[in-house]
Amino acid sequence: MNIIVVGQGAMGLLWYHHLATSITITNLSLLASNQHKLADDNYHFIDSQSIAYQGKINYAYDEQIQHADVIFLCLKSFQICSALEKIAQQLKANASIIFAHNGMGTLAELPETLINQHNIYALLTTHGCLRKGPLNIIHTGIGITDIGLISGNVEITEQQALTSLLNHALPTVTLHKNIVERQWLKLAVNCVINPITALHNIDNGQINNNIFTKQIEKVLTELVLVARSEDIHLNVALLSKTVQQVATATAKNCSSMRCDVLAHKPTEIDYINGYVHKLGIKHNIATPENTQLWQAVLRQAQRNQ
Ligand code: PAF
Repeated sequence: MNIIVVGQGAMGLLWYHHLATSITITNLSLLASNQHKLADDNYHFIDSQSIAYQGKINYAYDEQIQHADVIFLCLKSFQICSALEKIAQQLKANASIIFAHNGMGTLAELPETLINQHNIYALLTTHGCLRKGPLNIIHTGIGITDIGLISGNVEITEQQALTSLLNHALPTVTLHKNIVERQWLKLAVNCVINPITALHNIDNGQINNNIFTKQIEKVLTELVLVARSEDIHLNVALLSKTVQQVATATAKNCSSMRCDVLAHKPTEIDYINGYVHKLGIKHNIATPENTQLWQAVLRQAQRNQ
């Protein structure tokens, strides 16, 4: 099995490290956008028990890309389409592609040829990971991972083999028939926690403050209506509870969007509240709260530049 992890961020290196140290992997490489500039090929990893590791990175070049069986994209949602377009010509026709980003809507951006020639999976993970510097990460919290096919036609045994390989590297990874429903659940969590923590510059746990209760309910009510038009059936009360639980479990964390805003980096807002706004227009459903949060984060990013 030839696997390429794409992305030198926290998630990319988390999976690279675990796949590299997992005995079942025969051929692993990392495609980093800045690999031509990186003088170093050593990475540093501190695991969840504070044990430090150092390893060598095997960078991916044309040969690895041409032979890849799995392209594991550990990138932000807004980087997915362009990253794939850069390597599309070199990919084997049936190579599997894994998306591991927050938000939804990236599949619809891909050219049809890519969608027709590849099997595409979505991977959702709750592992906490922090990038301390270039090629230097800490595994801050053990989580779980869900995976499932979002496009293509693959025998269940092949899906199970890929899941088992990932599970061997960084357990637990569970295969789901209906990963889209789980994507929506994650989207709901991200639609609330990410923009509110970014706009108010607060830790995740502070979302549970009563001052946000009404706003959270509006965000989730709109999302449930839009989801229904996409044939996904969710429940506002259950989603509220899930959001509360995630905020409690990650109380001291800085959400990815807040981190991006503080680091003056682009955010995934177009694929989170922006996605709900876009689907609202498509289905003729008003989404004022999501639209307002989407625009407020965009404005904040503009002010930051
Ligand atoms: O984007 C994030 O930061 C995470 O998905 C979540 C669940 C909001 C926890 O911080």
